[in-house]
Amino acid sequence: MISAEKIPNNVDLSGNKRLQRALEHWQPKYLQWWRDMGPQGFQDYHQVYVRTAVSVDPEGWAHFEYVKLPEYRWGIFLAEPVPDRRIGFGDFFGRPVWQEVPGEFRNQLRRLIVTQGDTEPASVEQQRLLGRRCPSLYDLRNLFQVNVEEGRHLWAMVYLLHSYFGRDGRDEAEELLERQSGNRDKPRILEAFNEPIDNWLDFFMFTMFTDRDGKSQLMSLSESSLDPLSRTTRFMLTEEAHHMFVGETGISRILERTCQLMRESGFSEDVRRVGGIDLPTIQKHLNQWFSLSLDLHGGEVSTNAAAYFANGLKGRAKEDTFDDHVLKGAVYSMEFFENGRAVTKDVALRNAMNEVLRDWYVGDCEAGVERWNRILERYGVSDRLRVPDRKFNRGIGMFSGLHFDPDGRPLSSDEWKRRRFDWLPSASDSEYLLSIMAKPVYERGKFANYIAPPRRGINQQPIDFEYVRTEQ
Ligand SMILES: [Fe+2]
Ligand SMILES: [Fe+2]
Repeated sequence: MISAEKIPNNVDLSGNKRLQRALEHWQPKYLQWWRDMGPQGFQDYHQVYVRTAVSVDPEGWAHFEYVKLPEYRWGIFLAEPVPDRRIGFGDFFGRPVWQEVPGEFRNQLRRLIVTQGDTEPASVEQQRLLGRRCPSLYDLRNLFQVNVEEGRHLWAMVYLLHSYFGRDGRDEAEELLERQSGNRDKPRILEAFNEPIDNWLDFFMFTMFTDRDGKSQLMSLSESSLDPLSRTTRFMLTEEAHHMFVGETGISRILERTCQLMRESGFSEDVRRVGGIDLPTIQKHLNQWFSLSLDLHGGEVSTNAAAYFANGLKGRAKEDTFDDHVLKGAVYSMEFFENGRAVTKDVALRNAMNEVLRDWYVGDCEAGVERWNRILERYGVSDRLRVPDRKFNRGIGMFSGLHFDPDGRPLSSDEWKRRRFDWLPSASDSEYLLSIMAKPVYERGKFANYIAPPRRGINQQPIDFEYVRTEQ
């Protein structure tokens, strides 16, 4: 069970006074950050129907109640230890997992934890203005649920930094509150987390694709030889699933509404004229967030990734389903682009680890897009959504200096400049989206014109439940 202390936890925090003091010192800074950089306009006079962890077992951890956002009980929750857990991959395969950080891997582990930790507050910052444009109380509540849990994920990483990295860890924990999404002088570490999210189409695409990258990273880290990192990320994954649910069903509901509007206004009609979101605009936002999220997996050939694998720091998702856990001498066939032509070459599998994780990610995304397409099919609409080729619009890795269309065909710089807004959101697309979201919908059971209601409410509550209530 989780303790009822100032910082709820299942790590016996009160038994470790030094750590408890350090975290209690960080807590007010975190709360200040939440007020300054968290959801704007919903801090003091709104109560949100959120779930909070009360225990980490699969059945009992979610507890629902109304909370004012700054009073959410952020805490430290680790999944239960696996008895006699062994290192699952790399050069130390089969040895007992580590309960402390080995000196030689300290810097690599710190970098992994800081990079993961930095994404958590970043997304809260990116989404902080969305509340004032929400399509319903139901969606508003989901946004805040995602936000408080990203805040908790930051706590999870800060716990590791404070517990295992001494002074450096404390400094890193402070800096996690100092960098700011989109800030020119102190930006967040990864590019996708500096992009603005000012409309709900972006929010749903972000939770579909970028939170899915989060899932991919957390699955890799949950294989880690550093047992506390594995246990922390395993519990984070249970929260992450809800974020992707919000994204996937959010887009499903937009698609459903778009189809309805197309049907009502005649299939050839421009959906924008009746206030909906047209399929080409949806595809453009999909292209944008899918390609940005591909970049998050890092370069295709990477000695860092090889070292993380060799040292047992970061593995493959579901490592135990593979036959070979050491991968010495194994190769991966990779597509390169040389002199304007695609060529396939073998790369040492350990060096291709980012690409291996990206393969898993792309497959998971494709399956989600297929589920979206079934909605179009059901309405008799012949268009289909699809994920673009992985060379399209890349900012990291070997395709980053080159240009490709969504089918993966190479383009000259001029062609790219001329056509990029055929495939990516333009200023006028954003303007249109903001125009239909200008008026938030705060009335119980009502939904903005561009989105269908969900199939069911949260925690078996009705759809017209007062998911966010205002204090008089
Ligand atoms: Fe997260
Ligand atoms: Fe998330």
